[in-house]
Amino acid sequence: MPTSRTTTKTASTTRKPARKSNTAEQMSNSKFHELFMEELKDIYWAEKNLVKALPKMQKAATSEDLKDAIGHHLEETKIHVSRLEDIFEMMGKKAQAKKCEAMEGLIMEAQRGVEDTEEDSMVRDAGIIISAQKVEHYEISAYGSLRTLANVMGHADAAELLEQTLEEEKHADSLLTEIAESTINEEAAAE
Ligand SMILES: [Fe+2]
Repeated sequence: MPTSRTTTKTASTTRKPARKSNTAEQMSNSKFHELFMEELKDIYWAEKNLVKALPKMQKAATSEDLKDAIGHHLEETKIHVSRLEDIFEMMGKKAQAKKCEAMEGLIMEAQRGVEDTEEDSMVRDAGIIISAQKVEHYEISAYGSLRTLANVMGHADAAELLEQTLEEEKHADSLLTEIAESTINEEAAAE
């Protein structure tokens, strides 16, 4: 009904100024800010553990394209770790990692995938790509949410850094799709 639509629109318009009155300072003590800090610790653990896991995935891969892509993303991942440390500093906190059960599981599955496939096979490479993309998708959701939270709380500098990492995760994800679709999947199907 058109009438109810108009009412909803008016209500949301009148709610906006109240949101704006929450300054970054007020927010820093809020439960919402606590949630932001907890999510930050989660992804910090995830990134630090990826720095350890990616070289193993790179070593297990056969295709040069895949090895290069993982190697490149390893270097980016190290930057992601230091960006997170910068954000902790911006928030006046010491960088702290909190075990991310989801990432631990994804890394374990990736290792199992390698163990269950033959060395120098494209099936193994296809499996590594699937595992790596699951990791990227987790990170894309984490960084997208963190960026949004930072923006809502008025932490523009932190949001900017989170956005940079988000873009790199998205790029890594599409590069993996490209590699899988250009050669690996077809070769794996022919093995
Ligand atoms: Fe990352």
